[in-house]
Amino acid sequence: MNPPAFSQDDIDVLGARAEAMVNALGAISAEPDRLVRLFLSPEHRRAADLVAHWMRAAGLAVSEDALGTVRGRFGTGQRLLIGSHIDTVIDAGKYDGPFGVIAGILAAGHFARGGLQLPFGIDVLAFGDEEGSRFPATLASSSACAGVFRADNLALADRDGVTLGDAIAAYGKSVADIPAAAYRHEDVAAYVEVHIEQGPVLETRNQPLGVVTAIVGQTYLNVELLGEAGHAGTVPMLLRRDALAGAAEAMLLGEELARESKGEVVATVGRIAIAPGATNVIPANVVVIFDIRSGSETARARLAESLKAGIRAIADKRHLALTITSTREVATTPCHRQVQDMLGASVRALGAEPVRLNSGAGHDGQAMAKLCPIGMLFVRCRGGVSHNPMEYASPRDLGLTIAALIGFIARFDPGKLAG
Ligand code: GLV
Ligand code: MN
Ligand code: MN
Repeated sequence: MNPPAFSQDDIDVLGARAEAMVNALGAISAEPDRLVRLFLSPEHRRAADLVAHWMRAAGLAVSEDALGTVRGRFGTGQRLLIGSHIDTVIDAGKYDGPFGVIAGILAAGHFARGGLQLPFGIDVLAFGDEEGSRFPATLASSSACAGVFRADNLALADRDGVTLGDAIAAYGKSVADIPAAAYRHEDVAAYVEVHIEQGPVLETRNQPLGVVTAIVGQTYLNVELLGEAGHAGTVPMLLRRDALAGAAEAMLLGEELARESKGEVVATVGRIAIAPGATNVIPANVVVIFDIRSGSETARARLAESLKAGIRAIADKRHLALTITSTREVATTPCHRQVQDMLGASVRALGAEPVRLNSGAGHDGQAMAKLCPIGMLFVRCRGGVSHNPMEYASPRDLGLTIAALIGFIARFDPGKLAG
């Protein structure tokens, strides 16, 4: 199909609608003063209902799978999947995830409501578990769609001890239906996701849109140190087995190793649990989770091995018991060459230069790549800021992104996707 021509007015109208929808979803939070929307929570339910309402208004047929993923369907034949997530980190921005879902709805609605025929069908997907903010694993929703859901994850518990399996039941779904959420390879042509960049590259290059070449690989190391609780006032310093002091050394080691990699690897500890967690008690048990990422498989593995060896030495020196488990190991996920080129062509048709860049952030595409070719379109965000309430992308850039996605759909040809 010939891609439509967009005037600046058309783009501004799309951008204003998208911004209003981003704000509407951004108002659905578990807390009044910050945005928190966790997987399978009452806020997830409310957000899913709003998304379903928008999908229907866009002319899509709505269903929901066992993980709560909302699907809006248009047309028949092999599916082009367009998705992102509606869960958030704690104290989140409004754009990370929701904008991709909204862009999918508005772009699919352009064809569905316009009565335009396509030689393939579209499913818009709103996943609920991209951030991993509730359970210590992530991408459950997209893994189910890709047919790679790990049943052992059902036993993982949130901070309140509720397991994923129980949370699915409390959400009104059945774990027995998870296999039915999977698409068959032959029914799917590709998965495409629109997302804010979450980094500074596009802004620095003064370009609104980027085409992702690959999503970097990721390792999570769960490090548990076990010492001995004791009285903070009476136990002499040299007789202590302080698990938190050991964890602090481990965290500094992770930072040092990542700095030594000169930008090739990043390592972060964003979550730490301390027991018993009282001011006047020597910490007995500490769990820290290292999030290690790199575009290079070898550099990531090298850093993870050095870190594990270093933490073992720290634990020995401090007489702490230690267990290290990897709870997430995801290889670098390349985006499909032809999908990249089709996205690039639709960006160029709008008069912008499609900047090619890696994604340092994780995305549902990492799971969907197990099912089908994937591609991602990034939109610039102010200051590269994300996972932060200051996250912002201008309505003009949002409108341009949706116009590019519509152009991509018009250009998309499943027959052109070799290998
Ligand atoms: C998700 O946003 C991640 O990259 O951790
Ligand atoms: Mn995201
Ligand atoms: Mn995120």
